[in-house]
Amino acid sequence: MVFGLFKKKEPVKVTVKGTGETFMCNPDEMLMKAALRAKIDWPLSCKVGSCGSCRATILEGEGHHPSGICDVPSLLKKEEIESGMVIACQWTPTTDITVDVEIGKEGDKRGMI
Ligand code: FES
Repeated sequence: MVFGLFKKKEPVKVTVKGTGETFMCNPDEMLMKAALRAKIDWPLSCKVGSCGSCRATILEGEGHHPSGICDVPSLLKKEEIESGMVIACQWTPTTDITVDVEIGKEGDKRGMI
């Protein structure tokens, strides 16, 4: 018998640096959606991966942008991607994470220019 191959995914814990707020993100749930469900005042605009307003930097932990959902290279510079920046409305964590985001600030709408 093989155990662990089909391990059930569990919600992961998200900690916001600065405010210290925490919330849970369900398996395959986008980070920003989980934040909004937890009533976090996350910067946003389009919610569909085209403006870049929801950018955040992952300080600890891992996750991914599910392929094909948004054009990450058009919204983030190479150096930003390398420093852990993600498009939060199109990114899902796979482990507990600590994230740096400017809570309550209006986002920089790069894709809307
Ligand atoms: S809110 Fe526009 S890219 Fe996320």
